[in-house]
Amino acid sequence: MAEIHAACFTQPRPWSATEFRELCASPLCLVKTLDLGFAITRRAGPEAELLTIAVHPDARRQGKARALLSELLATLQSDGCEEVFLEVVADNHPAIVLYKAAGFTELSYRKDYYNGVNGSKSAALVMRKIL
Ligand SMILES: CC(C)(COP(=O)(O)OP(=O)(O)OC[C@H]1O[C@@H](n2cnc3c(N)ncnc32)[C@H](O)[C@@H]1OP(=O)(O)O)[C@@H](O)C(=O)NCCC(=O)NCCS
Repeated sequence: MAEIHAACFTQPRPWSATEFRELCASPLCLVKTLDLGFAITRRAGPEAELLTIAVHPDARRQGKARALLSELLATLQSDGCEEVFLEVVADNHPAIVLYKAAGFTELSYRKDYYNGVNGSKSAALVMRKIL
């Protein structure tokens, strides 16, 4: 997971193997994996947050992220989760198209939310899907 994440992200920063071990061990986290891709949500009462979704650059545009997201949403819904939130860098067009196609809508815009390299800042979109 850490290797795939590092191949996918510079901003937000890649997460370490230790961080992934902790997330996978948490009873609040739901993890779905496919060859060269994975996605993780964390539950908080009736809500869940999509913490990350990543598909290695060599395996993109094969429907893997759509399948991961769809499996996560179906499991959360059958577990009684009512809504799912996520944050995404506001110019991450592929991810935003993916999320909108899965039924997420834009909830708010956070200016200068992410810290980038050399002191740069990027905005975040907060999106939500009611299950
Ligand atoms: C975003 C990401 C997870 C998509 O993974 P993927 O497996 O390639 O996505 P899918 O093949 O399941 O695509 C599903 C739909 O999303 C949209 N989409 C995916 N990539 C796209 C792109 N580069 N440009 C435009 N739309 C895109 C399309 O609507 C696509 O359906 P289509 O192929 O039938 O047109 C992948 O690009 C990635 O890992 N990016 C880096 C990490 C990241 O940004 N994660 C999300 C932010 S937390």
